[in-house]
Amino acid sequence: MTYEVGRPRGLLGGGIQQALDVVVNFSLDVQPGEFVSVIGPSGCGKTTVLFLLAGIRTPSAGRIEVCARPPRDAVRDGLCSVIFQQPVLLEWLSVEENVLLPLRLRDPRWWLWPGRRGQYLERAGQLLRTVELDAFSHYYPEKLSGGMQQRVAIARALTLDPQVLLLDEPFGALDEITRDRMNLELLRLYEQRALTIVFVTHSIEEAVFLSDRVVVMGRGASPRTGSSIVREVRVDLPRPRTAALKEDAAFFQKVREGRAALREAQQLQ
Ligand SMILES: Nc1ncnc2c1ncn2[C@@H]1O[C@H](COP(=O)(O)OP(=O)(O)O)[C@@H](O)[C@H]1O
Ligand SMILES: [Mg+2]
Repeated sequence: MTYEVGRPRGLLGGGIQQALDVVVNFSLDVQPGEFVSVIGPSGCGKTTVLFLLAGIRTPSAGRIEVCARPPRDAVRDGLCSVIFQQPVLLEWLSVEENVLLPLRLRDPRWWLWPGRRGQYLERAGQLLRTVELDAFSHYYPEKLSGGMQQRVAIARALTLDPQVLLLDEPFGALDEITRDRMNLELLRLYEQRALTIVFVTHSIEEAVFLSDRVVVMGRGASPRTGSSIVREVRVDLPRPRTAALKEDAAFFQKVREGRAALREAQQLQ
């Protein structure tokens, strides 16, 4: 993926444009039902990888498929959803309306069919129960805590019943207790719905706790070389996973492996 950086061309003549290669030689094959975490030093291109998978950015070279189609089509068809670092809720819509947004965008005349309206509200109710926010459906986002807002974002991401979830450091802004709880909720959804997940984080513990596989990105020798996957750690810890796993020697061992892989990735820079 190549970004154009530098001063844009303005009224007074030419700006300075430079190409910055961010993600280069990057190959990742995720199996259906697999939970893969991507970790790496800040600025190495994790968000770029996720945005490429979500069709928000277009690769300058190479090919990406999500559910056997171009990423943008997978998102359009409701097969793939993204959860960002911030919840990105619409402040002027209630929690329920935010959750219904993907359905409304897909079916703008939904209100003409009273039956459909009932169906959609039922769906929103179900999803809000899933994230334990059904008592807050008529609240507006500003009245909710950060963790609750991110749970609304999760419910909204599930509205079209996707097969693939892409998450970019979704719990990074939350306190540790809330983050632990959200991790358990995410695992529950993953196991119940047989989702395929690509999860970006900079926490090794979080990556190991959640994933089947942790891929470690490292930057190349110079900014021109771009970053790629430099290490991979398989996490063959049993599922379903509970908080008790975090006290287990096998968990510590995997975290140690992950930390060593990340250190090596940083030394490669
Ligand atoms: N829109 C953009 N234009 C130019 N450079 C960008 C843009 N977005 C990200 N970058 C650069 O790409 C690199 C990787 O960024 P990012 O994918 O956000 O990394 P990470 O998520 O791992 O912190 C950084 O050097 C960043 O400055
Ligand atoms: Mg990022």
